[in-house]
Amino acid sequence: MTGSYPHIRLRRTRATSWSRSLHRETRLDPTDLIWPLFVTEGLGIEDPIGSLPGVSRWSVDGIAARAKEAIALGIPCLALFPHTQAERRSEDGREALNPDNLMCRAIRAIRDAAGDAIGVLTDVALDPYTSHGQDGLIDDAGYVLNDATVDVLVGQALNQAQAGADIIAPSDMMDGRIGVIRAALEGDGHANVQIMSYAAKYASAFYGPFRDAVGSSGLLKGDKKTYQMDPGNAEEALREVALDLAEGADSVMVKPGLPYLDIIRQVKDRFAVPVFAYQTSGEYAMIEAAAAAGAGDRDALVLETLLAFKRAGGSGVLTYHAAHAARLLGA
Ligand code: PBG
Repeated sequence: MTGSYPHIRLRRTRATSWSRSLHRETRLDPTDLIWPLFVTEGLGIEDPIGSLPGVSRWSVDGIAARAKEAIALGIPCLALFPHTQAERRSEDGREALNPDNLMCRAIRAIRDAAGDAIGVLTDVALDPYTSHGQDGLIDDAGYVLNDATVDVLVGQALNQAQAGADIIAPSDMMDGRIGVIRAALEGDGHANVQIMSYAAKYASAFYGPFRDAVGSSGLLKGDKKTYQMDPGNAEEALREVALDLAEGADSVMVKPGLPYLDIIRQVKDRFAVPVFAYQTSGEYAMIEAAAAAGAGDRDALVLETLLAFKRAGGSGVLTYHAAHAARLLGA
């Protein structure tokens, strides 16, 4: 061998499987995963979502069954999203405050089936409940109002906590909502209910299939750029995170995932707090499409992308591949 350092061979430690294991810096484990699930009305329903091949909406009984499946796979937490019937949607999204809404019934069903053996994370934002598909209340021009929306989000968060949610996850991107929700949780006897803030959530093209899944894609006019972040901004993400932590968030999220690994790393380096990645519906669909087109091996794509979130500094990942990945990791 030629060169100045003939004895340095980085390939030495890569030569065998046992040595690669020994030198692996980052590992992926089922306990890193949060499994997002879509809830629908009815009994015994599994309703496949066209734009998310392999993902279905489940009726509440099916959600309870998924909770047991997740526990068996070692997945510590579920994230719930409701597919609200069109007739229950309204301009003001008031169904979010109904103690018997789909979300609350799903939370209670998981508790009945699994007790405290699994965590339940619930999304706080009005888009599954509004007739216009925006995350908040709008004025006549369609602009999403900040403070009026926060008032409703507080009620939504309390409604979820009262039903038994463990982690409240505001995904709405209104200013100031974390502090107000934290105070309301404390005041209502939920001191141990956590807040995982969608702190750095970008106005992204990777949410399309999700909007199909919750039934808001046909309703949404325009976009969410007046509240979700500009994809060009990183400093602003750090400001968002700083504010949410100051207001009382226990952990923060960066979303989407793979195109924003740099943000995960910067958040981790700057704040040293638990930071979670959301591998969004569009990212999931992209992997499935690539695999279906023969452009890559599905299992390998899944495990490599999920591992990348850990390497970037992520504490865990919300992913629609959670059950599949956990099975692969357990095998
Ligand atoms: C709702 C919400 C969205 C997602 C999570 N919560 C969609 C949006 O903001 O339009 C996206 C999740 C995904 O694409 O998988 N505020």
